[in-house]
Amino acid sequence: SVMNQLLGMHQVEKEISQYFGIKRCIVVAGNSDNQEKVLYEFGDILTDSLDLLLPEGDNIVAVMGGTTMALTAEHMGTLETEKRHNLFVPARGGIGEAMTVQANSVSAVMASKTGGHHRALYVPEQLSLETYNSLLQEPSIQEVLTLIEQSNCVVHSIGRALHMAARRKMSDDEMVMLKQNNAVAESFGYFFDEEGEVVYKIPRIGLQLKDVQKISNVVAIAGGKSKAKAIRAYMKNAPKQTWLITDEAAANEILKGV
Ligand code: F6P
Repeated sequence: SVMNQLLGMHQVEKEISQYFGIKRCIVVAGNSDNQEKVLYEFGDILTDSLDLLLPEGDNIVAVMGGTTMALTAEHMGTLETEKRHNLFVPARGGIGEAMTVQANSVSAVMASKTGGHHRALYVPEQLSLETYNSLLQEPSIQEVLTLIEQSNCVVHSIGRALHMAARRKMSDDEMVMLKQNNAVAESFGYFFDEEGEVVYKIPRIGLQLKDVQKISNVVAIAGGKSKAKAIRAYMKNAPKQTWLITDEAAANEILKGV
């Protein structure tokens, strides 16, 4: 029955949050690997979650990119109230994604869907260290970096390590190194092995993993059976305040290994 299914799902959510020692897990029916509607539902759930998490006053929400984040953003609803104002910023500078799924684009879409504001961080890819360092001195960039540092919420996704390395066109040497270090997961531009230990990091400005630990509201969104291993690896050392929004296919696969 539907009731049993709901109770079953609830049980799975509890088992997952307990297993990872995180604050909350929300599981959507289906498999986002091949059902786009699951991603739309992520949008509803993210909206409800942020509605509960974000306090009154001015909030700064730092977001990551990727297809999950982009599609989730498209299906968000309003979060702005008379007393609550939200500014969306990218969590980190360009880490090699196509325009439409870059953190800058995701934060713009989230702002428009939720009725908030956004600020972009313009840092081109492929820069010499010299140019990069002088760009960082630019007041307009400094200003956005300061906002990112002040964020009280972060929303991010989790991907498979080698898949993400290929998508970002990382070098052959980096690929070999990731394989040698058994990288299975990627989040925030960091690569993790099965134990959730960082094995490599793309040096970029913006939020660093140690900063995320200190942010009071953290929401991770990732689903699909194909991502189960990556989600499991990353979540092992995820900040304890994390809320994980995932789907049934990933959740069942994660619990199989427990
Ligand atoms: O590149 C940004 C990012 O959020 C990564 O940190 C993550 O691994 C990936 O995108 C997820 O992408 P997708 O949702 O397309 O699987």
